[in-house]
Amino acid sequence: MAKGPESFSDGDAKKGANLFKTRCAQCHNLQAAEGNKIGPNLHGLFGRKTGQVEGFSYTDANKHKAIEWKEDTLFEYLENPKKYIPGTKMAFGGLKKGKDRNDLITYLRSETK
Ligand code: HEC
Repeated sequence: MAKGPESFSDGDAKKGANLFKTRCAQCHNLQAAEGNKIGPNLHGLFGRKTGQVEGFSYTDANKHKAIEWKEDTLFEYLENPKKYIPGTKMAFGGLKKGKDRNDLITYLRSETK
């Protein structure tokens, strides 16, 4: 199996938008005004530490991971969330293709501002 990219590089935001819609949007909003769903609102994600969204009830595992969300941490997290944050309640198996993660992160970087 092709391994694909092993670190973040700019991807295709249009493809990322579609990935977000099909894989993330049932649990996450991106706009500040929209509030939390099953998962925390992702508005302002880049540059924020884990577990900081007001009014969202995180697991201790997510809260205490204490890394900063940015391209490279998201690249690793989204491949296998339960490996990156053991004990997380995010019910998502991961995006195994590095290219998909690059596309999605490129989209998120602009849409969460
Ligand atoms: C089935 C619902 C669900 C899906 C699908 C899902 N998430 Fe989540 N997500 C959650 C929950 C719940 C949490 C909080 C986890 C915790 O507290 O342990 C979370 C946490 C996160 C966090 C950490 C936020 C923070 O403030 O620390 C990020 C980033 C994230 N999700 C991004 C994504 C992306 C991108 C996708 C799509 C690839 C996705 N999630 C798919 C439910 C989901």
